[in-house]
Amino acid sequence: MNLLLRPATRDDLPALLAIEEQSFSRPRWRPADFLKDRCTVAECDGQIAGFIVVREVFSGNTHTRAEREILNVATHPDFRRAGIATRLLENELASGAIYFLEVRESNVPAQTLYRKLGFTELHRRPKYYSHPVETAIVMQMK
Ligand SMILES: CC(C)(COP(=O)(O)OP(=O)(O)OC[C@H]1O[C@@H](n2cnc3c(N)ncnc32)[C@H](O)[C@@H]1OP(=O)(O)O)[C@@H](O)C(=O)NCCC(=O)NCCS
Repeated sequence: MNLLLRPATRDDLPALLAIEEQSFSRPRWRPADFLKDRCTVAECDGQIAGFIVVREVFSGNTHTRAEREILNVATHPDFRRAGIATRLLENELASGAIYFLEVRESNVPAQTLYRKLGFTELHRRPKYYSHPVETAIVMQMK
């Protein structure tokens, strides 16, 4: 598989929205949300196969590492279990920052992916999500 990781552009928005709609029970991201923070797409033979959106929470300094939050990550259903989310995450985690994310308690595929990459659970936020109401697991990667 010929996979290219690159920054998202406005031209990618229809494909990003389509992946969002096929990936979440209640898609909540609007077009502008994708480009507000740093969005990287995985392009496979000209098709957008997945994306990751990351926000810098703290830029770090000489004594303290940067902290970043993974806001969104998804792979197009046709491209799943091919290592695309792993590639997007590994590319991001190589920065050496400390990473945080939230994941639904029922989202075992994503939790499995995150644990495999070294994320560990920090704590849980009961009733954090709506539609359906659900606990969030907060995870960290140091
Ligand atoms: C979770 C998601 C991003 C994984 O994307 P992906 O590109 O298929 O992931 P990868 O191929 O890199 O998977 C890496 C590992 O994660 C785990 N994993 C991925 N999907 C899984 C599934 N459906 N069930 C169990 N484990 C799974 C496996 O350990 C997998 O390794 P393996 O295929 O060698 O067994 C994708 O299923 C998705 O887009 N889901 C909907 C959106 C979502 O839930 N995003 C996360 C929000 S917090």
